[in-house]
Amino acid sequence: MISQRSDYTFKYNRSLGRHGWLRLTPAYSVKLVGEIIDTLPDARNILDPFSGTATTGVVAAERGHKSTLFDINPFLVWFGNIKLANVSRDDIAALRDALRQAVLSATDSQAAPEWFPPLKNIERWWSRETLTILAQLRSSLVKIIDEPKNAGFLALLWIAFARVAIEHSAAAFNHVSVSFHADPVSHSKQEILLAFESYAEAFIASAITPLPEKGVVHLHDSSSPFPEELPFGAVVTSPPYPNRISYIRELRPYMFWLGFLGEAREAGELDWQAIGGTWGVATSRLTTWSPAHECAMPSLEAIVEKIKSAGEKNSELLALYVKKYFYDMDKHIRSIQSMLKPSAEVHYIIGNSTFYDVPVATPDLYEESLLAHGFKNVSSRVIRKRNSKKELFEYCTSATYGWTKRTYHQTAPEHPREQPYEPQYEQLRLLESEAKYLGKQRPTSRYP
Ligand SMILES: C[S@@+](CC[C@H](N)C(=O)[O-])C[C@H]1O[C@@H](n2cnc3c(N)ncnc32)[C@H](O)[C@@H]1O
Repeated sequence: MISQRSDYTFKYNRSLGRHGWLRLTPAYSVKLVGEIIDTLPDARNILDPFSGTATTGVVAAERGHKSTLFDINPFLVWFGNIKLANVSRDDIAALRDALRQAVLSATDSQAAPEWFPPLKNIERWWSRETLTILAQLRSSLVKIIDEPKNAGFLALLWIAFARVAIEHSAAAFNHVSVSFHADPVSHSKQEILLAFESYAEAFIASAITPLPEKGVVHLHDSSSPFPEELPFGAVVTSPPYPNRISYIRELRPYMFWLGFLGEAREAGELDWQAIGGTWGVATSRLTTWSPAHECAMPSLEAIVEKIKSAGEKNSELLALYVKKYFYDMDKHIRSIQSMLKPSAEVHYIIGNSTFYDVPVATPDLYEESLLAHGFKNVSSRVIRKRNSKKELFEYCTSATYGWTKRTYHQTAPEHPREQPYEPQYEQLRLLESEAKYLGKQRPTSRYP
């Protein structure tokens, strides 16, 4: 029996120092990442091409490994780098001083704010009174520590601000949607500033414990070629899932308040660049999308056709959505090769999905792509059940890069099909890949 295992989700991270600064659902479990990293004692520098909240980087650093991370979302790049930064004693003193000044300035501020975040239907999120107080606190912070992007290590206070803004909103983030309480509550200035001070103090206290290793997050589209070739020994990551959940849905309020989105339409533009994005124009643009390259996932077309012929209003659109998601992931798997040394291990935490009862077996499709792009020892294991009703699971799909004699041990054979997970095509595709790549340590073919 496979359970829902909340210790393998972001819920496990909430109380864990840096990991608990912002409660973002895209985050995967610290426990799970730690377990994977512990099987990689030789991985001196771990690569995560889909950094999100930099969980991989922080867990790697805590265990004494360096890490290099990438994400397409500038807010997450900023946030990840603050999470990974160490602060000196002087920095701590400066943070406490800036905190005191910001609270004093916001307490005194009577000015009517000139700016509110351009979030659609903002009155559903905050009452006018709460918005005014948040905007006053925001201008005090700008005056004392500068805008988030320019605040250096003092940006930790911006994270406390973001936490307070969300905690005092009427929004509740559920699995697939954001819901709002009927009437946003009006909070007093004293209450908001007290919460801000408490979060800031707690975050400063957790930042005092230094991370023993370095990690850095870069802005990059990981479905395109990487700017330089680097020989990493391990990838530990969780890319978006093909489930129509956009990260931008949850990140939008943070991004508007902190100046990472200027206008409402920018959210859709950014989501169109992201794999699996659906926000705003990201969905309408799908209707004119067609692939510009081949995809090394032979089973994909049949799945796409089944969704298309489901006879529902959005069958065509969802078929395109699934197709684009896997084309982008295949492009990613091609690109990641330039960042791996022979025998590097890759571990992708991924989820399956269903569209109109058509199962989308994400691990099978990843396996096909990995095998076609020079990986071997390709396997998937179930991590947990994601949903009590539907057959939705989280898997870890793993592989080693290039051709070596290393033996790979699968750690958990448990699988919903109640038999070891061995796709029938594996033998055949191994031979194909072997013929293609044998004798070459690194395939030269690249997505143009
Ligand atoms: C499931 S989340 C990663 C969560 C992360 N493991 C954590 O613990 O926070 C997937 C991430 O992939 C990023 N992403 C989506 N498309 C991308 C792309 N083309 N290149 C790089 N990052 C991308 C999203 O912005 C999101 O942060």
